[in-house]
Formats: sequence, C-alpha cells, structure tokens
Amino acid sequence: MNKLLISLLLTLGITGMANAAGDAAAGQGKTAVCAACHSADGNSMIANFPKLAGQHESYLLKQMKDIKSGARPVVEMTGLLDNLSDQDLEDIAAYFSSKKIQGGKVAKDQLELGQQIYRAGLASKAVPACTACHAANGQGMSAAGFPGLSGQHAAYSEKQLKDFRVGARNNDPQAMMRDIAAKLSDVEIKAVSSYLQGLY
Ligand code: HEC
Ligand code: HEC
Repeated sequence: MNKLLISLLLTLGITGMANAAGDAAAGQGKTAVCAACHSADGNSMIANFPKLAGQHESYLLKQMKDIKSGARPVVEMTGLLDNLSDQDLEDIAAYFSSKKIQGGKVAKDQLELGQQIYRAGLASKAVPACTACHAANGQGMSAAGFPGLSGQHAAYSEKQLKDFRVGARNNDPQAMMRDIAAKLSDVEIKAVSSYLQGLY
C-alpha cells in the first residue's frame, strides 16, 4: 500500500462511518416495494438491479440516504424512500445485510485480466489493486465504508464504474472511486466486473 492510501484509511478510521443500528425483523416488513426489483431476500434476479443481500449495513444505509436526498440519482427509485424515516432505513439496511448473497460466475475469457486488475491493479496507469480497499475476498471493509463487491451482478458493477468514470455517480468520499474509474478502459471495466461476479 502506498502512503497516500494508508493516510486515507487512517483518516476514514478516525472519522468513522454512520453508526447503523437497525432491527432486521422490523425491516423485513418494510421491504415489500423493494422486492419487485431487488427480490425479497435482496438477491435481485435482474442484472441491472444490484444485489443487496449480505452488503454492509452502514453502506446500505449511506446509499439509501444518498438516493433519498438525490446525492446519488437513481431514477428507478424516485420517491420510493421519501416516506421512510431514518429508523425505517436502518431497519431495512439491517434486514438486507442479514441475508446471504448468492454469487454468480466469472466469464472465462475475462478471468485473467479481471483478476490481474482486482489483485494487482495496473501499475502502468497507477491504478491501485482493488483489494486494498475491497479486500482479497471482495467483502470490503465495513468500518471504512468500502462496500462488498463479491457476487454482485457484472452488469451493475460495470455501470457503476462507468458512472464513476464520467462523474454521473459522485457520492464516493474524496472521489476515491472516480479517480480510479477515470483510469480504466471499457475493456478493463468489463473484465474486473465479470471477475467480481464470480468472486465469493
Ligand atoms: C423499480 C426498481 C427498483 C425498486 C422498486 C427499488 N430499487 Fe433500489 N435500486 C434500483 C436500481 C436500478 C439501483 C441502481 C441504480 C444504479 O446506480 O445503476 C438501485 C440501487 C439501490 C441501492 C444501492 C445498492 C448499492 O450496492 O450501492 C440500495 C441500497 C437500494 N437500491 C435499496 C432499495 C430499497 C430499500 C428499496 C425499497 C424501498 C428499493 N431499492 C426499491 C432499482 C429499484
Ligand atoms: C481507496 C479505496 C478504494 C479502492 C482502492 C477501490 N475502491 Fe471501489 N469503492 C470505494 C468506496 C469508498 C466505495 C463506495 C462509495 C460510496 O460511498 O458510495 C466504492 C464503491 C465501488 C463500487 C460500487 C459498489 C456498489 O455496490 O455500488 C464498485 C463496483 C467498485 N468500488 C469497484 C472497484 C474496483 C473494480 C476497484 C479496483 C480497480 C476499486 N473499486 C478500488 C473505495 C475503493
């Protein structure tokens, strides 16, 4: 890890993330409308709709707050969170977080490049290894706000990386993901996204 990354991690550790304290059982009853797209257990069947199952509670909570406020625009979810209180969002986050994610497969022709980017980065372009923040097994680091990526739909991850690249998604603290995605080509984004789908 380079010095910048270490100091970044320390800063995040000291600042701390939103303290999530939801009730999963109460949350389940508040997710009927979400199930249409994300499935009842958070293992969405449609590649453009992210799997929420097993994701960190604090990350889910942050995303819902960002989507609700418009800091992260998600047109499909327009208005859906407006009538939910912070407690509702915490309960929903706890519910989906308590579910087990069902992973997918990596496309064989994407494995080599995807694995290289994920585990080693691309030194020639100063792209850091994704493992530095999202961990070797793709589970991320809850306390630092680094989401789990393992088992996620490749099409969804691909869209996020492209959105970060052009700034259409800009709710990442300190532009951490925008800086990285800006250096990735379409081919590289496709490969690493496929790799993530099969990593679990
Ligand atoms: C009509 C489909 C639809 C419905 C209904 C829906 N969502 Fe979503 N949701 C999406 C899409 C699409 C995205 C991702 C958009 C993007 O950035 O590409 C998303 C993203 C999310 C994310 C961010 C996930 C991540 O990994 O960053 C969370 C959390 C979420 N939704 C929670 C909910 C909750 C809670 C409900 C119910 C109150 C809900 N959604 C209802 C379509 C839907
Ligand atoms: C310095 C830490 C850091 C590194 C290195 C990093 N990420 Fe991230 N990543 C983040 C953070 C933080 C977020 C969540 C941003 C937010 O709060 O919305 C994120 C989010 C993501 C997401 C969206 C997840 C979702 O559910 O919507 C994807 C996909 C992703 N990263 C892929 C990668 C890939 C691929 C690499 C390596 C090329 C990488 N990241 C390297 C910090 C990092």
